[in-house]
Amino acid sequence: MYEYATYKGGLMNLKNRDFLKLLDYTPDEIRYLLDLAHDFKKKKKEGVEHEYLKGKNIVLLFEKTSTRTRCAFEVAGYDLGMNVTFLDPGSSQMGKKESIEDTARVLCRMYDGIEYRGFSQSIVESLADASSVPVWNGLTNEFHPTQMLADLMTIEEHFKKLKGLNFVFMGDGRNNVANSLMVACAKMGLNYTCCSPKDLWPEKELVDTCRIIAEENGCTVTLTDNVKLGTLNQDIVYTDVWVSMGEPEEVWEKRINLLRKFQVNKKVIDNMNPNAIFLHCLPSFHDLNTEIGRSIHDKFGLDEMEVSDEVFESNKSKVFEEAENRMHTIKAVIYATLKD
Ligand code: CP
Ligand code: NVA
Repeated sequence: MYEYATYKGGLMNLKNRDFLKLLDYTPDEIRYLLDLAHDFKKKKKEGVEHEYLKGKNIVLLFEKTSTRTRCAFEVAGYDLGMNVTFLDPGSSQMGKKESIEDTARVLCRMYDGIEYRGFSQSIVESLADASSVPVWNGLTNEFHPTQMLADLMTIEEHFKKLKGLNFVFMGDGRNNVANSLMVACAKMGLNYTCCSPKDLWPEKELVDTCRIIAEENGCTVTLTDNVKLGTLNQDIVYTDVWVSMGEPEEVWEKRINLLRKFQVNKKVIDNMNPNAIFLHCLPSFHDLNTEIGRSIHDKFGLDEMEVSDEVFESNKSKVFEEAENRMHTIKAVIYATLKD
């Protein structure tokens, strides 16, 4: 049934599991979610109805802004036949008058699943502890696990495999996306390189954990601040914004000074393998068509930041396929954790 299926482990049951970080999931379980996502994508393209969770209700809690994650959860929910409620701090008691834990204890009496996007990972972990229904992490300061599933799916669509590929992340190597990519690569057998200034390398404890996982899966985790060596012979280059949501405005100047040498541009692409691709979780500052992009231009004179417009708009760039795959993969997570 699954074109890309390599999952041969028999029955897989993820019912009632939280989805908080990829460290909690085995390679087989991730494989199963990817297979489901490929299948859901095929069904959607062929117009095959799949309202498998008709009558169930889910709630989306957002303490930070979102386009992709929110819409992916909403559309995935509707396609599965569910009812979806969106709550942000401006329209609920969450945070101001009621703790996240109490909010979770109320919501799990009404809903079958809860998505949370916010600040510390410890918040989503305690939310999950307080909830009797599955909790899905839609991004915290430390991790962004649903993003990784879409990234792996996009890589697989292009290369028809995951194991043995060479993956480099350039930029803020210790943000939520970079942390999660390092875990995802280690779990799924891709050689991971973090190409960042030393000040922005991931925490040693997470690197050590990922190196142990990588060894089990026949791949490596490398940290370098050498752009030429770090990007040589890579198959996938990935970047993300230089300043993440929740960080203070004042860090921009320092971050720009640290990261301008680590931009993904044509020189980087030319150093990679001929079939290489570019990925970005989005949103991206690749031109001056955003408020922040223009204000950075006015203050620091940059026309583009983490990726050049040339690379972003090139045929190497798979960022919009990647964005679409957020929906198919999130649908797989919802389905796998809620189906009877
Ligand atoms: N990639 C991602 O999570 O995008 P949003 O912030 O728009 O959800
Ligand atoms: N690192 C970024 C990812 C956005 C999807 C942020 O947290 O803002």
